[in-house]
Amino acid sequence: MLSIEPTGQILGATLRGVDLKQALTPRDFATILRALGEYGVLRFPGQWLDAPELKAFSARFGEIQVLRGNPNHEPGIPEVTILSNVTKDGKPIGSPDAGQSWHTDMTYSQAKGFVNVLSAWKVPLREGRPVGSTEFTNTQAAAAGLPPEMVARLTGLTATHDIEMFWEYMRREKGSKRPPMSPEMRAQRPPVHHPVLMKHPITGRNVIYVNPGFTTEIDGLPAEESAELLKTLLDHVFQPKYRYVHDWVEGDLLMWDNLGSWHMARPDYGPEEYRLMKRCQVMADKIFDPAFVQQALAA
Ligand code: SIN
Repeated sequence: MLSIEPTGQILGATLRGVDLKQALTPRDFATILRALGEYGVLRFPGQWLDAPELKAFSARFGEIQVLRGNPNHEPGIPEVTILSNVTKDGKPIGSPDAGQSWHTDMTYSQAKGFVNVLSAWKVPLREGRPVGSTEFTNTQAAAAGLPPEMVARLTGLTATHDIEMFWEYMRREKGSKRPPMSPEMRAQRPPVHHPVLMKHPITGRNVIYVNPGFTTEIDGLPAEESAELLKTLLDHVFQPKYRYVHDWVEGDLLMWDNLGSWHMARPDYGPEEYRLMKRCQVMADKIFDPAFVQQALAA
């Protein structure tokens, strides 16, 4: 029987008593969906799903994003990306620095990201303690912590999200060798606009839907006012009271809600300290359909 142990912190719960290699029963699916809305980051210890199993589990929650031109995926399974600094013939077998700055997935596209599912195969340890942990901050709790006059100010506002901002950050600050985005790439991924306060599709509560990775401005405001308001929101969400750190244990399967949190992989381990994760990124193509949520939660 599926059990839920909340961490007692601002995010996080451990779920046991389910074998994720098997198809989820409607009842377990409902429990997991509810827990995602409530706790944001769910840990399933001791789950060693191979790539087809990871894909099948993730696909239960929505369409899995396939990154165009991504060489770092499981052979024959482009839905499962490898994040790793493990090398073969001197080259990393996966993307070694993915997610190493604060963001939440896919806000730069019309189709938002819903959940990430990461399976931990190798976790670096230093003096017996894990490094390469993943940090989170809770944008649902942060929205609940806004003063009423700020909620009134933000209601009805939208923000611009643009992948080029992140792209250039990686080139400028992280030594990424990627070339600037070409006009074709820009045309394929134009900036998009999302509400600053968004209703979470599972809980119905507000989330602050801007993030440091992709949000460039609050729409319709003079540049200075927009920059100031965006900074106020980012600083608010970054307060220690909304933060949570997941220290990985090999065999963990972690899934988190991208609509109600931001995350960052800590780049605090060296090239000889091996980390190997397998990831599916699930889109919010189903979760904003009230009929889907209602039916799923009724089980
Ligand atoms: C991600 O941003 O999806 C990667 C997070 C991690 O590797 O901890």
